[in-house]
Amino acid sequence: MIEKDRYLTFALTKGRLADKTLSLFEKVGISCREMEDKSSRKLIFVNEELGLKFFLAKAPDVPTYVEYGVADIGVTGKDTIMEEGRRVFEVLDLKLGKCRMCVCGPESARSLLEHHELIRVASKYPKIARDYFYNEKHQTVDIIKLNGSVELGPIVGLSDVIVDIVETGGTLRENGLTVLEEICPLSARIIVNQVSMRMENERIRKLVNDLREVIDKE
Ligand code: PRP
Repeated sequence: MIEKDRYLTFALTKGRLADKTLSLFEKVGISCREMEDKSSRKLIFVNEELGLKFFLAKAPDVPTYVEYGVADIGVTGKDTIMEEGRRVFEVLDLKLGKCRMCVCGPESARSLLEHHELIRVASKYPKIARDYFYNEKHQTVDIIKLNGSVELGPIVGLSDVIVDIVETGGTLRENGLTVLEEICPLSARIIVNQVSMRMENERIRKLVNDLREVIDKE
């Protein structure tokens, strides 16, 4: 390492978001040539020159790595950050992967929401669903955790509605469902370990400021 005496470690969300994040990072001079080999199954990458380390993790694990300090910085979706509820600082909206967290279902379920009926809600995000129904809407509901293809819930009769991510709305349309209520907008965020924020303040602040400048121009 030339510049720094300690690696700054990033936990990135594996897949499309990691690719988009790295393209953005390149614009502020942060690159990792090792990561460009898409056929590689490697999970940890190092840029010795800049004193940076990157690893790829599943989205819900990113806040865990950051809270425990094995990564100084994490990049993952706001949905994951809210669902995991880890003690980390959220410092920047990267404005990547924009979508919405919504309550969705067949049009016929709209009145069940309006009348605060005791309904069943299926979701990959039980915490977000609970917070929304119990703390915002003050509606008692039955929450059922699913792990994917959540749109099946109302179709097969497991639930009345779902709480899920809507991006283009294509999945809903193809399955005869619609957005009934919007919970919040979502996008990728930078999170920082609370101790790293103090110990590596200068490096992290510079990175965040550089990224903010690029994002504001886009
Ligand atoms: C997400 C989400 C919806 C879909 C929304 O699922 O859970 O199903 O994308 O996108 P759209 O509005 O553009 O159709 P994902 O593909 O991540 O897989 P999953 O259903 O297994 O969670």
